[in-house]
Amino acid sequence: MQIITEPTEMQAISEKLRLNRQLIGVVMTMGALHEGHLSLVRLAKETAGVVILTIFVNPRQFGANEDLHRYPRPFEQDSALAKSAGVDYLFAPEASGIYPASFQTSVACGPLAERFEGALRPGHFDGVATIVTKLFNITKPHLAVFGEKDAQQLAIIRRLVRDLDIDVTVIGAPVVREENGLAVSSRNIYLSSTERNEASVLHRGILHAGTCFDAQRRDLGTIAAEVDAMIRSVVGFIPDYVSFVEEETFEPAEKAEKGREYRLLLAVRAGSVRLLDNARFRCP
Ligand code: PAF
Repeated sequence: MQIITEPTEMQAISEKLRLNRQLIGVVMTMGALHEGHLSLVRLAKETAGVVILTIFVNPRQFGANEDLHRYPRPFEQDSALAKSAGVDYLFAPEASGIYPASFQTSVACGPLAERFEGALRPGHFDGVATIVTKLFNITKPHLAVFGEKDAQQLAIIRRLVRDLDIDVTVIGAPVVREENGLAVSSRNIYLSSTERNEASVLHRGILHAGTCFDAQRRDLGTIAAEVDAMIRSVVGFIPDYVSFVEEETFEPAEKAEKGREYRLLLAVRAGSVRLLDNARFRCP
């Protein structure tokens, strides 16, 4: 595995790979790699001949009071994990290489980025869309794998690719869970062991929603309220939102219609950590 830090060097390598008719897959991360990221690499490996993993803690997607400075950066460990997962190129640029002092252009997302995470973290998705666009231009992939764990981010990236005619196939990869059902995330390390056990309530909420769908319930608003109440019953767990949305548009949905797909979105504050989770359901 080759480690590259210069954007121009990465571009030149990708250009050469393309000329040699290699299929390039990219997995973009902010590091602190875990089983979820490695599952994205494995999925990319299944289709692409060459896999590029990017590690960049993107300052433009963090709000002023967020954890940019304490965000974990275990580079040695990350590069060992990337190598053992079969990554061919690890692209880990410096912030100054990505955002030189003269930098001034950014991607502005539309209404899809204004709800849920976007409403709570103003500018977050513009920051994500900007770095993802830059990383597409630097790594020149044919395909890119993103986790469904960040479902709104994935929907926004799919929109970005369609709206700006970016010639990349976006693949969504299923949420990877710990044994107790907690979705794996780089921020789980901030949880105390009690919080980590109790955080299984999010997954139990998702299972409850699944049981409601199986029982042919259509009252999405009430089901979401029940999941919200389950989460609030854990002391110190405060939902920012628990809501069903239309799968395609991320418009909030109150009543399910036969044959349509919905996604349950959960964002929960557990002490100083925000936990995100989601699941897709089809109305029978
Ligand atoms: O999901 C992430 O880790 C980040 O938002 C991404 C896509 C790497 C952009 O910085």
